[in-house]
Amino acid sequence: MGKINIAIDGFAGCGKSTTAKEVARRFGYLYIDTGAMYRAVTLHFLKEQIPFEKDTEALTKSLQKLEIDFVNGQANGKRTVTLNGQAVEKEIRSPEVNAAVSPVATLVSVRHALVAQQQRMALRKGVVMDGRDIGTVVLPDAELKVFMTANMDIRAERRLAEMQRKGMTATLEEVKENLILRDKIDSTRAEGPLRKAYDAIEIDTSYLKIEDQIEIVVDLAKKLISA
Ligand code: DC
Repeated sequence: MGKINIAIDGFAGCGKSTTAKEVARRFGYLYIDTGAMYRAVTLHFLKEQIPFEKDTEALTKSLQKLEIDFVNGQANGKRTVTLNGQAVEKEIRSPEVNAAVSPVATLVSVRHALVAQQQRMALRKGVVMDGRDIGTVVLPDAELKVFMTANMDIRAERRLAEMQRKGMTATLEEVKENLILRDKIDSTRAEGPLRKAYDAIEIDTSYLKIEDQIEIVVDLAKKLISA
């Protein structure tokens, strides 16, 4: 088999993006962080003061003018997300965006626009895409689908450590509360809810080291590519 597409879905704090990034690097594939795209749309609505409680004409119109892309960062070679040509990697991780992104991700017009773009990005194969609805909605034909889980306490500890590395402060309780709320919004929305695809391979990452979790996905992909 030639190039394949790899879909990695699951809850926040399961190591999805670290795994997806490294798997993409190993195979020379394109890594697409779909969460960053929802975050970029959210940042745009906040900056432009566009209300996002529900789908409106103004909101749909503003989506048409929106260009989200990934470019290689100059200094470190890292891929960063851009919003109308501006690098926004840092801004999309702010507490304001964190608080607003789950409600924004429930909007049908937002999901339709982003899903269409994600599908175009994967047309030529050779992508590793992580998100919530990749195996179910965006790439239902992906050759490899992985669904990651982990227990809540471990997810909260990982998320807190990640935030602390970035110089943000919060308590473990706050992080946990935020994760519980996001899980609820992400899993219960009508459009593209967080759900395991019937043919996805579930990996419980609670007690896995990140290197081991990467190896599991790399091995699964190797088997498929060489089949
Ligand atoms: O993975 P993340 O924390 O960057 O995701 C941010 C939000 O976007 C999260 O609330 C879930 C949502 N999201 C989504 O609904 N669908 C995706 N494919 C990716 C993320």
